[in-house]
Amino acid sequence: MYPVRTCLPQADNCPLSRRQSARHRRYKQPSSNLPHIRTDRPRPACACPRRIENPRPIRHGSESHVIVFPAHQPICIRLCARPPVRVLPAMPKIAVFSAQPYDRRFLSEANERHFAGYGFELHYHVFPLTEETAALAGGCEAVCAFVNDKISAKVLEALHAGGTRAVLLRCAGFNNVDLGRADELGLFVARVAAYSPEAVAEYAVALMQTLNRKTHRAYMRVREGNFSLDGMLGFTMHGKTVGLVGTGKIGLATARILKGYGCRLVGYDPFEVAEFKDGLGGEYVGLEELLERADIVSLHCPLMGSTHHIINADTLARMKDGAMLVNSSRGALIDTKAAIQALKSRKLGALAIDVYEWESSLFYADRSLDIIDDDVFQRLMTFPNTLVSGHQGFFTVEALTEIAETTMRNMKCFVDGEECAGRLHARTKLVVGS
Ligand SMILES: NC(=O)c1ccc[n+]([C@@H]2O[C@H](COP(=O)([O-])OP(=O)(O)OC[C@H]3O[C@@H](n4cnc5c(N)ncnc54)[C@H](O)[C@@H]3O)[C@@H](O)[C@H]2O)c1
Repeated sequence: MYPVRTCLPQADNCPLSRRQSARHRRYKQPSSNLPHIRTDRPRPACACPRRIENPRPIRHGSESHVIVFPAHQPICIRLCARPPVRVLPAMPKIAVFSAQPYDRRFLSEANERHFAGYGFELHYHVFPLTEETAALAGGCEAVCAFVNDKISAKVLEALHAGGTRAVLLRCAGFNNVDLGRADELGLFVARVAAYSPEAVAEYAVALMQTLNRKTHRAYMRVREGNFSLDGMLGFTMHGKTVGLVGTGKIGLATARILKGYGCRLVGYDPFEVAEFKDGLGGEYVGLEELLERADIVSLHCPLMGSTHHIINADTLARMKDGAMLVNSSRGALIDTKAAIQALKSRKLGALAIDVYEWESSLFYADRSLDIIDDDVFQRLMTFPNTLVSGHQGFFTVEALTEIAETTMRNMKCFVDGEECAGRLHARTKLVVGS
């Protein structure tokens, strides 16, 4: 069908780069007969020895396109008898949903700073991605979504029908995506697997210490001229046992901080890591034993079928009387109604959550003038020993910079047909959990 092959610009380390770059410069000229080749891209790493032979323009419909064959070096385009795997417009559009002002700032900065040559167009929508809003991504090659966007089978089908071929998650968790359906539709789905796990770990410890030492109350009291210490009694962290459910990147980063506090560490994770045992002196135990021994239980596992309500009436009953429960991972790890019962019965001594089971209808918006209909949430807010924040564990300059850069890099991988470390498939669930 296309019995020619050609290359995108070569990297500096390519043996043919000098010879070929002269050709590519020629292609940039208005008189070039290769309007489809994006010669303005940053040069990718390349060790490809292929030469340009008989290049010729490729057009798809009325637009110029880049054609990508992922089996080849990312910089190479082999135009052969096989049909192209993807045909992409020269200016790929990305519809960014649930876009807050800080998302705009960091994504636009990353795009301009590192991917200017790709001509990615970012279209920001403040509303979330839902079945109703999916149509607004029509004509966009990719959507960029966040933790509370519901990327169900129907949403994926609507996106696919509108021409979208990539879903870029600007978060680590992917419980909100129907990966099976995405695979069936051939959609590229990628997440930001790691971004400053220390940011979330530091926040989890901040929640523990706020609730323990009542700094949030101290702040309000002193501003009102109340210097009484009555009701402010906390405990010393040194020597306490902290149970970490999940010792992945964030769980480990939390363990490192708590090790510095002089805490004893017990962990539960189906996939044990050496650093927790050997480097940090942690002890792996079963979930039941962890709950029975820990003064503080901190959740750092992903939300999956097997971890949904991992903290429920039964597991709460196994916890030490008066223990603290911290959740900076995903809301539905805790059966919130069961936690409320445990708080009411004084079984649970304190609850600190940055994530909430039904947060999608509350978080990331100013609802201070709204009547909040969620009675479970409102009941939680009445407990003096409960601290709730609005899913902000990730919210540091460093983490947002990494999230934005990795999200845009994932888009580049999609466009170039490169290997992508953050790519997700339905089977990914089996890799990270039971
Ligand atoms: N609050 C926030 O802002 C925020 C930000 C980033 C991530 N998160 C959440 O934190 C979670 C953890 O992130 P991470 O980067 O450490 O992920 P990770 O994949 O590095 O670690 C998760 C760990 O959980 C373990 N695990 C799987 N099933 C388990 C089970 N049944 N019981 C115990 N452990 C189990 C895995 O083996 C893995 O070691 C994410 O899934 C996400 O939901 C929250």
